Amino acid sequence: MKFAVIGHPIQHSLSPMMHHANFKSLDEAHEYEALNIDPKHFHHIKSIISERNLDGFNVTIPHKERIIPYLDALSPAAETIGAVNTVKIKEGKWIGYNTDGSGFVEGLKHRYPHLQDARILIIGAGGASKGIAYALKTISKHPITVANRTLERLNKWTFDVYPLDLKEVISNIGQFDIVINTTPLGMDQSTESILNLTGIPQHILVCDIIYTPFETPFLKQARLNGNETYNGLDMFIYQGAESYEIWTNQQANIEAMKERVLEHLKSNQN
Ligand code: ATR
Repeated sequence: MKFAVIGHPIQHSLSPMMHHANFKSLDEAHEYEALNIDPKHFHHIKSIISERNLDGFNVTIPHKERIIPYLDALSPAAETIGAVNTVKIKEGKWIGYNTDGSGFVEGLKHRYPHLQDARILIIGAGGASKGIAYALKTISKHPITVANRTLERLNKWTFDVYPLDLKEVISNIGQFDIVINTTPLGMDQSTESILNLTGIPQHILVCDIIYTPFETPFLKQARLNGNETYNGLDMFIYQGAESYEIWTNQQANIEAMKERVLEHLKSNQN
């Protein structure tokens, strides 16, 4: 079978490496390539994909919303979140899914086995936050709280979360068991942590969806404060594994995928 990831830029994507590690471990001769699609050429997407005879593809930044008008159907999650990271092509029909949020939650379940009992705070209200909040809502016994700088953004969501002003987070943080940063702050090592976590209660598991850098300033502050931390690597691995399962109806080899990506990240550490 043939797969790809579309994005712009795409040359640094670790998806081909991760998927090839999975194919190899399962002894499958599938192919997976990275396709750089400039937004100004996106209207050619149907012919670009069709001429490659793909069975499915991943969609990454900046095309996760732009792809939707080209799809024949959407999964309920993709429809509610309004973003697609996985497309399955079956008998010429394009079906869109979102495995980012479910991937994050699947990974987190392994780290925090009683996830359904945890009181969870998500920071940020972009597409990544929405996917994670949607997936958490399906398993959590508690309402999901979402904190953002611009609270009005949450009014447009089509499912309920408990809104919290970003300025109120630190004074309320002790109520939560898990705090997840979904804002892009920290992608650049020089950026400050979105919150000052010094002095927060140590029972809180502090998470970030970023994995390059492996430890963001947000996670570093939490670790130095004595908290457990969890970065975005598992989210990347599990979203890829779920894509593979959607395309092939077969289970992915999570360990092989993670081992390969970790090996690459370690060899590129300065
Ligand atoms: P994505 O879709 O990748 O999740 P996005 O839609 O660009 O990303 O959303 C980014 C999130 O980070 C938003 O919640 C944004 O807050 P606003 O809605 O108030 O813009 C948040 N964010 C980005 N930069 C920020 C900053 N400097 N301080 C606080 N929040 C920030």
